[in-house]
Amino acid sequence: MIIAIDGPAASGKSTIGRMLAEALGYLFLDTGFMYRAVTLAALQDGVDLAEETAVAQLARRLQIDVAVVGEVADGRHYTALLNGKDVTWALRTPEVDANVSLVSSYLSVREDLVRRQREFGRRGNIVMVGRDIGTVVLPNAPLKLYIIASAEERARRRWLDRQNQGHGNDYDSILADVVRRDQFDGSREHSPMRPAADAVIIDTTGRPVEEIVAEILGRTSNQ
Ligand code: DC
Repeated sequence: MIIAIDGPAASGKSTIGRMLAEALGYLFLDTGFMYRAVTLAALQDGVDLAEETAVAQLARRLQIDVAVVGEVADGRHYTALLNGKDVTWALRTPEVDANVSLVSSYLSVREDLVRRQREFGRRGNIVMVGRDIGTVVLPNAPLKLYIIASAEERARRRWLDRQNQGHGNDYDSILADVVRRDQFDGSREHSPMRPAADAVIIDTTGRPVEEIVAEILGRTSNQ
């Protein structure tokens, strides 16, 4: 069984995906971390982010993995590894946020990462979350969800996350970034963010996450 979840930033898709994976005993893969890992590596190595070929060459050399949380109890839900190094929090900085859309718009980067994501998919029993999982990565997934919420609610959630991580920040600039990133991700040439024709669209605005998860679990028992 495979559950494909897509939707804009901070729509609640990762929280919902994680809760579903836990309830069903499935593997959880948040594919956004891979695009973030390539972005971080390019920033660290001083690769010009405007140069698709250079970014894609770097991406191909990277070892990108996830590990279970283990000993670290700092609010993380999984540990992201870049060339064996723990980069979980480094992937969440405003600098990565500001550049990840550009990196994820490159076809050659997408082809590399989609291939890696499909390898995870072959293990079966997985909840995979991203922007193009139902449309491109796993188009045959039997259950596809597209999770949305109003831009204001999504910005409020991002703002809270940042507060909890100890970063001071300003709601208006987060809202502007959320709107900018969605427009960019939804209008890019390759694999734009959009619901698959057979996706179930779920609006999480003002709804408790537990209620939504219970509703989806009801659907999985009907599959
Ligand atoms: O979900 P996130 O915020 O961690 O995603 C980071 C960026 O990566 C986002 O701007 C869109 C892109 N992305 C993508 O293009 N395809 C995916 N499957 C996952 C993320």
